[in-house]
Amino acid sequence: MSDLLLEPGRTLGVVGAGVMGTALLKGILDHGLLLPKQAWAATKTEASSIEVAGSLGIRAVPAYESWVPSAGILLIAVKPGQAAKVIEKLKLSGLREDTLLISVLAGVTTETFETLLGRPQPVIRAMPNTPCLVGHGVTVYCGGKGVEARHLAIAERIFHSVGQAREVEEHYFNAITALSGSGPAYMYLVMESLADAGVRVGLPRDLAMTLVAQTMMGSAKMVQETGRHPAALRDDVTTPAGCTIGGLLMLEDGKIRSVLARAVEEATKIVEQLGKSKS
Ligand SMILES: NC(=O)c1ccc[n+]([C@@H]2O[C@H](COP(=O)([O-])OP(=O)(O)OC[C@H]3O[C@@H](n4cnc5c(N)ncnc54)[C@H](OP(=O)(O)O)[C@@H]3O)[C@@H](O)[C@H]2O)c1
Repeated sequence: MSDLLLEPGRTLGVVGAGVMGTALLKGILDHGLLLPKQAWAATKTEASSIEVAGSLGIRAVPAYESWVPSAGILLIAVKPGQAAKVIEKLKLSGLREDTLLISVLAGVTTETFETLLGRPQPVIRAMPNTPCLVGHGVTVYCGGKGVEARHLAIAERIFHSVGQAREVEEHYFNAITALSGSGPAYMYLVMESLADAGVRVGLPRDLAMTLVAQTMMGSAKMVQETGRHPAALRDDVTTPAGCTIGGLLMLEDGKIRSVLARAVEEATKIVEQLGKSKS
C-alpha cells in the first residue's frame, strides 16, 4: 500500500504558488507525499508558474482550468482578496465535489468558502508561516462542515512535512495569524535590532548576526525541549548584580512586554478585515 496522499491519476494543484504555496509544495515533494507528476502549480502570470515549477521539477499550468477535474487536493494560496475569483473559476472548471480544498488565506473563514462554493465540499483552513520554507514552520488547521477525519489526516501530513502542525478551533485563527503567521517578521525585527546592538558595542556585523540567530534558535529550543517557563530560563541567565539584569531592566523600561502585546493585538484587528477586503 502506497503512502502517497492521492491515488494514481489524481493530482494536487497549488493555486497561487507564491512564497507560501511553493514552501508547502516543496515539503510535500521532499517528503515523498506525492510523485512530482501528480503536482502542478498555478500562478497569475505564466513567468512565475514556469519559475516555480522549474525549481520544484513539476508541471507549470498557467491556464489551470483543464487540471481542476483531476485534482484530489487543491491548495489555495492566493491573496485573501482573490478568494471569490478563484472559487468561481474552480467551479466553472469542473471542480469535483470530493476534491479537498485547503486554504491558507489569512482572514478567510471556512464558512466564506462554503458560501462561495454554494454546495457540499470538504474545506480546510490553515495558517502556516514562512519558516515552512526551511522545514521549521508552525501551522494550525481546522475543518469546515464537509470535512472528515481522513481529510484532517491529509492536512496533518502536508503541514507536518514543513514543521509542526496542530488542529485548533477556527475561532482562534485571527489571533494565531497575528501571532505566528506574522510572528517571523517580529522575530526578524528583534534580530536586526540585536545585531545592530552588537555592532554598537564593537562587533563585526556578520559575527553579531551569527550570535543573534543562534541565540534565538537555541533559546527557542530550550523552551521547547525543557518545557520550562521562559521566566525560569531567564532567571538561569541572570546573575545577581550582573550584566543581564541590567539589560533586562532597560528592556522593561522600554515597555517591551506591552509593545509586543499591542503589536499582536493590532495585527489581530487588521486580519479580521482581510477576508472582507478585495484586492
Ligand atoms: N507570506 C506569509 O508569511 C503567509 C503566512 C501565512 C499565510 N499566508 C497566506 O498565504 C497567501 C499567499 O501569500 P504569499 O505570501 O505566498 O503571497 P505571494 O508570494 O504574493 O503569492 C501569491 C501567488 O498567487 C498568485 N496569484 C494571484 N492571483 C492569482 C489568481 N487569480 N489565480 C492563480 N494564482 C494567482 C500569484 O501569481 P504571480 O506570481 O504570477 O503574481 C502568486 O504566485 C495569502 O493569502 C496569505 O494570507 C501568507
